[in-house]
Amino acid sequence: MEEKRGRARYVRGLFDSIASRYDLANAVITLGRIKKWRQCLVGEINLPDAPLVLDLATGTGDLALAIARRSPRARVVGVDLSLEMMGHGREKVRRAGLDGRISFVLADVTALPFRDDVADCVVDAFLLRHIPSLPDAFAEFKRVLEFGGEIASLELTQPTNPVFRPVFWFLFRNLIPLLGGLVSGDYQAFRYLPRSLQPYPGHAEMSAIMRGAGYENVRCRLMWGGAVAVHAGTKPD
Ligand SMILES: C[S@@+](CC[C@H](N)C(=O)[O-])C[C@H]1O[C@@H](n2cnc3c(N)ncnc32)[C@H](O)[C@@H]1O
Repeated sequence: MEEKRGRARYVRGLFDSIASRYDLANAVITLGRIKKWRQCLVGEINLPDAPLVLDLATGTGDLALAIARRSPRARVVGVDLSLEMMGHGREKVRRAGLDGRISFVLADVTALPFRDDVADCVVDAFLLRHIPSLPDAFAEFKRVLEFGGEIASLELTQPTNPVFRPVFWFLFRNLIPLLGGLVSGDYQAFRYLPRSLQPYPGHAEMSAIMRGAGYENVRCRLMWGGAVAVHAGTKPD
């Protein structure tokens, strides 16, 4: 419990400190691909009419915005630990005229302040690496999902392609901290990125964790030589 709190505190401090340059740093280190990856997640989910969607670890709100734009009657609730990140999200949502449909809640996604079976869909992007216990987190996400509701998670993963794998790790350990540090002014934050991915499971293991947490129809879509994955699944009826 203490370890979980310590990690949450560290992650919150880290994202609070880079919030104002987060979007730019991400665009630079992903060579602008991050938008496409989020669109890929949005394309993976089937939404009913007027769904309630939870965007866990919403950060600066880009995934929440993509969902609200795709599904014009959706209500989206973004959840995050970092007030600074959500402050930037709130401003973007206001500028897009979507503040009637997207709201923000300050909370830890591992203990969601929502009742059981409330959401039609749960999504998250670049969250899972920060989570201490993936089986517990997937169980918590399933708790708030409606029966038959869908989950979709976008995250970097261990690349499967044997040629690309060493290239990826070289870039990830060296170039990304450098570029991210240059853009954000916070080298420490971007050194944390490769460290956070090291103990993280590969995509097949991730699918197994989701099945183990009770999701069905678990599927995985890989991008970028297997370095980026969208995992999706359904809470059984
Ligand atoms: C890499 S950012 C991703 C933001 C956004 N989803 C995106 O696509 O850009 C990770 C976000 O996860 C949040 N986060 C990490 N652990 C969390 C937790 N346990 N509960 C809530 N938010 C968390 C951080 O505050 C940060 O805003």
